[in-house]
Amino acid sequence: MCGIIGYIGYRNATPILLEGLYRLEYRGYDSAGIAILSDSRIKVVKTAGKIKDLEKLVKEEDMIGSSGIGHTRWATHGSPTDANAHPHLDKTGRFAIVHNGIIENYKELKSELQTEGVHFTSETDTEVIVQLISKYYSGNLEEAVARTLKRLDGSYAIAVLSTEEPRKLVAARLGSPLVLGVGEGEMFLASDVPAILPYTRKVVYVEDREIVVIEESSWWVFDINGNYKTKQIYFVDWDSSMVSRGGYKHYMLKEINEQGSVVRNTLKGRLKENNIDLSELEIEKELIHNIDKIFIVACGTSYHAGLVGKHLFERWAKIPTEVDIASEFRYRDPMISPKSLTIAISQSGETADTLAGLREAKAKGSFSIALANVQGSTITREAHRTLYLKAGPEIGVASTKAFTAQLSALYLLALWFADVRNTISETQKEAIIRELWQLPYHIEACLAFAPQVKELAQKYYHYSNFLYLARGINYPIAMEGALKLKEISYIHAEAYAAGEMKHGPIALIDELMPVLVLVPRDRLYAKVLSNIQEAKARKAKLIAVATEGDDAIKSFATDILYVPEVPEEFYPIVNVIPLQLFAYYVADILGREIDQPRNLAKSVTVE
Ligand code: M6R
Repeated sequence: MCGIIGYIGYRNATPILLEGLYRLEYRGYDSAGIAILSDSRIKVVKTAGKIKDLEKLVKEEDMIGSSGIGHTRWATHGSPTDANAHPHLDKTGRFAIVHNGIIENYKELKSELQTEGVHFTSETDTEVIVQLISKYYSGNLEEAVARTLKRLDGSYAIAVLSTEEPRKLVAARLGSPLVLGVGEGEMFLASDVPAILPYTRKVVYVEDREIVVIEESSWWVFDINGNYKTKQIYFVDWDSSMVSRGGYKHYMLKEINEQGSVVRNTLKGRLKENNIDLSELEIEKELIHNIDKIFIVACGTSYHAGLVGKHLFERWAKIPTEVDIASEFRYRDPMISPKSLTIAISQSGETADTLAGLREAKAKGSFSIALANVQGSTITREAHRTLYLKAGPEIGVASTKAFTAQLSALYLLALWFADVRNTISETQKEAIIRELWQLPYHIEACLAFAPQVKELAQKYYHYSNFLYLARGINYPIAMEGALKLKEISYIHAEAYAAGEMKHGPIALIDELMPVLVLVPRDRLYAKVLSNIQEAKARKAKLIAVATEGDDAIKSFATDILYVPEVPEEFYPIVNVIPLQLFAYYVADILGREIDQPRNLAKSVTVE
């Protein structure tokens, strides 16, 4: 959950490392630092705080050198202090390291090194790695790194810089992401592709237990036992402009506004005039016919997308579907048969729990499909197949456009399964396809109501608690709306299935508890109306997200946000837009750090 970066080449490394760290800041932002090799010594500048604090300090120093490493931290071992910030040096000052991950046996290693007289300057687990490299160094940096890695339990992506071999950086990974960027006369290392996009789009995905060595004009990869590996260079289809704010105040607002085109992109090439084409997945029809159960595994927002997916797979494709939070799934010993299909949903493709869930399912014989956004991410390499979301880089920590892309991908997959299994008629299929084509326009229509949502945020931002209610396929959207409000505004918000209110949560309702309710004109409309009345009778202020043209709702709701009329299955994707905007504007009025909410990181690569 930290970000690491490395550079070696012909330019001054400092601005490249700083810019890369800004692009990795979504991975962690409680402290940061860089180390540069300059005049045959390693210079380190690091601090608690954000990259902008680091940048100020760097300006006061003479940080010029053509190789270096950098880090942005999300604290696990040791609080976010200057001393605990990376890079860390060994006791001789000849080796510097940055690390993303957790070393589980660091205490044993630390006491062993302390007995040998090593003095530690931080509380981190990382410092043991660099002290071990120093201990094992005998003229070859990659050998010292390999020897050290054999002693570590846990996860890591590391980059190492040394005065002993100044024209080289060594990096390695186990469980945390690492890419190598291949330039002309320069090489890059990073936790994620956006960090190096301004310089190269040629990348090599480093795999678990691989060690990579970079020099200005060459690179090579070998395994922990010294065997050389042949690696493929991939060309990334994202460009640098995709990772800019493009004039918006926050990435989150930009990403919310991109959702019409994102959905178009997810559907493009996969949805034909009157048909659906997912031949890119290269899955035999027989396999689809034989699926007896689907397990969906994911975390956070991706989990909410999965909950919508359950409705689609059961309704259209008639396949029983279970959805699990990945951190629960991995320990519950699920009853997976070889006829089951596991769908792992992850924007980043690096979420540790989702990966563990996928591995558990595969180990039990399940075929697997990843729905992922980041090209080459771990999940895409581990699942049997990947359906890419094609949402472009998502930088805001609060996921928005990846969510609508996930919903779109689930619509495609469920429709395809239904088509192959003949569980829907041709007429139904064509109607669904027509609706899918309309989705981007519906999303854009919802976005046009942003000024009304902003006004509503002005009216409600001072409340401390919210209830979000919905039924059926929209209940996961209430969960997603509540999550958005919580994570970026720090206001407590809870989602309930509206029918569950009377079983307890209704006791919470009074005039200080606004209730946001999704009440589309679908099969459950009348049921939700009854639930609204129950809340209204207890003086709740009611914000209704309702279908355009629904005048009846006016006599129940305090405030109304309208969305276009769509068939029941498509309400989730339109209903979520006002909820994202509401959370955004409330957080903005409260002056929150919207793109980097406290305590969070974009990809959670630790358990
Ligand atoms: O990258 P993933 O989709 O696997 O991430 C899963 C969650 O960590 C993520 O959705 C998280 O809940 C977001 N902060 C939600 O906005």
